[in-house]
Amino acid sequence: MTTRRNFLRGAAMGAGALAAGKASAAGPDPLITELQDWASFTGAGVDETPYGLPIRFETDVIRRNVEWLTASPISSINFTPIHALDGTITPQGCAFERHHSGAIELSKQDYRLMINGLVDKPLVFTYADLERFPRENHVYFCECAANTGMEWAGAQLNAVQYTHGMIHNMEYTGIPLRLLLQEAGAQMDDNLWVYVEGADASSNGRSIPMAKALDDVLVAFKANGEALRMEHGYPVRLVVPGWEGNMWVKWLRRIEVTDAAVESREETSKYTDVLEDGTARKWTWVMDAKSVITSPSPQMPIEHGPGPMVISGLAWSGHGQITRVDVSKDGGMTWETARLGKQGDSKALTRFYLDTQWDGKPMLLQSRAMDETGYVQPTKAQLRETRGENSVYHNNCIQTWAVNEQGVAENVEVS
Ligand code: MTE
Ligand code: CO
Repeated sequence: MTTRRNFLRGAAMGAGALAAGKASAAGPDPLITELQDWASFTGAGVDETPYGLPIRFETDVIRRNVEWLTASPISSINFTPIHALDGTITPQGCAFERHHSGAIELSKQDYRLMINGLVDKPLVFTYADLERFPRENHVYFCECAANTGMEWAGAQLNAVQYTHGMIHNMEYTGIPLRLLLQEAGAQMDDNLWVYVEGADASSNGRSIPMAKALDDVLVAFKANGEALRMEHGYPVRLVVPGWEGNMWVKWLRRIEVTDAAVESREETSKYTDVLEDGTARKWTWVMDAKSVITSPSPQMPIEHGPGPMVISGLAWSGHGQITRVDVSKDGGMTWETARLGKQGDSKALTRFYLDTQWDGKPMLLQSRAMDETGYVQPTKAQLRETRGENSVYHNNCIQTWAVNEQGVAENVEVS
């Protein structure tokens, strides 16, 4: 429908384009000296965007996938545009998705959560039942164990969105799993396990040690203040702070207390790490400290000349807080300590900045995270020494971007 307002907006766009052309010529800046259309006509009414989306100038800040990675988009992955975000919170609308059998549509009315196994009273909760339990708010990162998995054998994908974008960080509202286990009269000995599964066709079943289940695991129904999006497990998902994303079961439907791990597909043939001698490491749940520079990076070239510049990135650790991030401009020979945007939350993304000067010369940019346990993020060479080159999952090595004189960045490996 062409309303008068739309017509005026179209006219305003044309005039804006002309003004921009003039601005590039020498002389007074018409954006400063001339009355602009957006100050002359009224804007959009409150009835036009009942639920807001990003302005059209930001439409390239979206999840993207790498088509050749998986055989089908139903069992696949897309990546968070971390190069274009700042701060730490990931908006749900561009937070990466990982499904083994597609995202399902499950209503609150049709939702049921069963707790069974080694419990006094097996229980089935409706969504309304869950809303009557005490709930908490926590910010946590969720990182797929396969994040950076393509980079083991050498620099592969030329974008931080693809090398490190299987991560998101949200504020969850949820019930401590401990409270639901108590309600069912679950046995809680340290040698017991809970087996959790989802309502989707894949079920994505995983075994979690009882100690973790009683510690900080949440049965969550809100993220960043609003209902979970379908693709993130609406109406209820499990949040397993600091542990690999695969355990964060979406569309959570059953929790069974067991006396042994189930050894499901997702914890044997998948999400384990094949070592040099052919054996596989398993039960590698915690995501070790890791960091990456998001700007400059291949999708975020430097678009100014020498002088002041901001280097920025993200750091996180499944063991707790990030305490320090160092940045190198020379491939790890010398390091400067970056400034944290704010004191890091435990098991959540921490933003870092290095406010620095660019001399216009090429750089080999790296970042290196340290966490509260004293753990230091390893180089790729150090990681390969202990893990070989056959792994896919749990690659937390230091990333290098080579920046040339034009400010263009490229994914490289330094030895
Ligand atoms: N839960 C169910 N039910 N089905 C799934 O396919 N994928 C897992 C996990 N939980 C999955 C699931 C994997 S491998 C990851 S990394 C996270 O969900 C991703 O969560 P997200 O899609 O909200 O980013
Ligand atoms: Co995953």
